Amino acid sequence: MSTKLLLDKANIEGIRFYKAYRENGGYAAVEKAFKMTPTEIVEEVKKSGLRGRGGAGFPTGMKWSFLAKPEGVPRYLVCNADESEPGTFKDRYLMEFLPHLLIEGLIISSFALGSNRTYIYIRGEYAWIPDILEHAIEEAKQNGWLGKNILGTGFDCEIYVQRGAGAYICGEETALIESLEGKRGNPRIKPPFPAIKGLWESPTVVNNVETLAAIVPIFNIGGEEYAKIGVGKSTGTKLISACGNINKPGVYEIDMTISVEEFVYSDEYCGGIPNGKRLKACIPGGSSVPILPANLLFKTAKGETRLMNYESLSDGGFATGSMMGSGGFIVLDEDQCIVRHTLTLARFYHHESCGQCSPCREGTGWMKRVLYNLEYGKGKLSDIDLLWDIQRRIEGNTICPLGDAAAWPVAAAIRHFRDEFEWHVLNPEESQVRNFGLAHY
Ligand code: NAI
Ligand code: SF4
Repeated sequence: MSTKLLLDKANIEGIRFYKAYRENGGYAAVEKAFKMTPTEIVEEVKKSGLRGRGGAGFPTGMKWSFLAKPEGVPRYLVCNADESEPGTFKDRYLMEFLPHLLIEGLIISSFALGSNRTYIYIRGEYAWIPDILEHAIEEAKQNGWLGKNILGTGFDCEIYVQRGAGAYICGEETALIESLEGKRGNPRIKPPFPAIKGLWESPTVVNNVETLAAIVPIFNIGGEEYAKIGVGKSTGTKLISACGNINKPGVYEIDMTISVEEFVYSDEYCGGIPNGKRLKACIPGGSSVPILPANLLFKTAKGETRLMNYESLSDGGFATGSMMGSGGFIVLDEDQCIVRHTLTLARFYHHESCGQCSPCREGTGWMKRVLYNLEYGKGKLSDIDLLWDIQRRIEGNTICPLGDAAAWPVAAAIRHFRDEFEWHVLNPEESQVRNFGLAHY
């Protein structure tokens, strides 16, 4: 079923600009929300059941209600637009084509949280998008939605766009805050959570782009109606960026009742696998979440149909399930080599580790080197156990989730595709021949 709450207006000509956005119902949600008190707005968001769309799926209303409110101390809302998770490009789509949707969500959220200075921290590689956002902010300001005393409420708000410099780790909320403060983007130890001590030591909420955009339909249709869409604790709609070996890569809005099988094969979404190839595996939620082999992708271990939502995708835990994560849906066909794929990811995480904690700094490089040997037919059977051991010692022993994110793909690849790792050891010559085109590591 296709319910569209975020992308419903995406095809309207000129929707990137204020005039078309306003003529098509834009900023009506702000008008509604501003008739409520900040506390009522937070309650409405709680009612909607909205969960953070960046990857962790933390309940948004609950996060907002954790925000400390000490007297005389400013509070901040920061929009995390540092979308860098491999396979994830849904926030880019929202910001590029529907910037006013994000600005509208930011205004409501800033009002609810009491943030007079709100920041959008955007990844450096999205070099062309800050101009689009700044233009939309200027249009909103000229039309009275930003600035001083918005709609006569006495509430002042400015939104600033801050460009990152291309570091994956700056998407981690505390590293992002450090970077915003002008420092090197090293994650902080939590607690304290940003809700207590964040930007410039003030209470701060960091929310993902899609989460903040989803605030708009919540106020257009009401929190309770929003909660009726989807299933269980997976309410509302979710953007999925689909890529890899599929006929129709792109950004899709789903309601979270559709099955994974329908998402892969239906013409409305991925449109199946090219050239009649068979599906081998899929990473359903961005590169940090465990890969699932085809036999576990469409059915859970209990034999139930696997759905595109938080609960169903993680059903079975990491033994037989995965995670919704950021919604970066990466499909691999039968020709893809899992060892090579895992090496590519290991190389990425090693490159992006900030180096603060030894298990991550040393472990990611070690995994990369062992995987390189295996992929090139220079490995030993004992290397597979070594790899398992290294990832196990990283997981849960680091300051931020990058360590886990580096460990999980390796663990899942060995868990589900051990025979492929063994094949590389037992067939060194074929392994080397097949990899003649691989870039140097
Ligand atoms: P997390 O689970 O540590 O935190 C989730 C949010 O809830 C944070 O904002 C945290 O401050 C807040 N929170 C949790 N407990 C709290 C408490 N007791 N009091 C106040 N606030 C509390 O996860 P995190 O580090 O925010 O995100 C990790 C996820 O991000 C990964 O699972 C991955 O899927 C995703 N990710 C997404 C990327 C992207 O490009 N979209 C990039 C890299 C990772
Ligand atoms: Fe840095 Fe890795 Fe430690 Fe995160 S886990 S703080 S990226 S070294």
